[in-house]
Amino acid sequence: MPAITSSAPGKIILFGEHAVVYNRPAIAVPVQKLQARAVVIAEPLAPAGRVRIEAPDIHLSSDYESLAPDHPLRVTLQSVFRELGIQRIPAFSVRISSTIPVASGLGSGTAVTVAVIRAAATFLGRTLADDKVSELAYEIEKIYHGTPSGIDNTVVVYNHPVFFQRGMAQPTIETFRVPAPFWLVIADTGIRSATAQAVGELRLKWQDNPTAYEPLFDQVADIVLQARELIERGRPLDMGPLMLENHTLLQAMGVSSPELDHLVEVAVAAGAFGAKLSGGGKGGNMIALTDRENAGQVAEALLAGGAAQTYLTEVYER
Ligand code: MEV
Repeated sequence: MPAITSSAPGKIILFGEHAVVYNRPAIAVPVQKLQARAVVIAEPLAPAGRVRIEAPDIHLSSDYESLAPDHPLRVTLQSVFRELGIQRIPAFSVRISSTIPVASGLGSGTAVTVAVIRAAATFLGRTLADDKVSELAYEIEKIYHGTPSGIDNTVVVYNHPVFFQRGMAQPTIETFRVPAPFWLVIADTGIRSATAQAVGELRLKWQDNPTAYEPLFDQVADIVLQARELIERGRPLDMGPLMLENHTLLQAMGVSSPELDHLVEVAVAAGAFGAKLSGGGKGGNMIALTDRENAGQVAEALLAGGAAQTYLTEVYER
């Protein structure tokens, strides 16, 4: 049997991170240049049920059942077996690789989960529908993130810009038109930051004083709606001021950092139309809105201003 390969993209939150956890809308886009990959190979000589995981990037080489019971990769595979109702698992190995930097708000864990779910299901003879893959991936997000909104698994699975809002029962998930493509320079502060921690700290502050935070979330919601309208009307470069407003609100939520604030300033000084932190914050990445012509100069300025790494990504309709 030939190897089965599945890939999933990285992601960035364009607008609305954190507020989305509190049922406000947000917009996220896939980052095609960054990908996680899972390759499943049958191991006909190994005993049935033996599933080997090889993830050299994180120095992991183990049978899945030897991993801790709550290890995300073990739980991911178990959820696929349960979903497919497979009793007798044929022996196979899954090799995981990724170009998505970890713990930087680019969805590395989510992309690995989605790639593994799809590759394992295909190997076992089934193609899972996108909403089912997203549902399974959301359960794994809870291990990584505690109280995730669900936006990360949604954008990675659908692989398209999405407008997302949590609901009481089901989230609202809408893909929307991107008639005029635009460019984002993503800059990594080089500071690893666990989304779970940033989300958890904000939750404590919100629980302590909801009236201080609810209005911030409402203002973010308003920005998200305006941004979607600009994108759909083919005026994405007009989103710059909205990005800066969103960043200011994230600062007020306490999820920015001096490094992120500095890179936002550097990007704007270098000619970006707008900039903001993206994802969990407290480190990780920021994004700068550019057109094709000034993307290079913004990226150079960000590197000179202390960014550990930059990535250029085009947002377009697939
Ligand atoms: C993380 O990419 C986005 C956050 O809003 C958390 C979440 O939505 O689960 C910070």
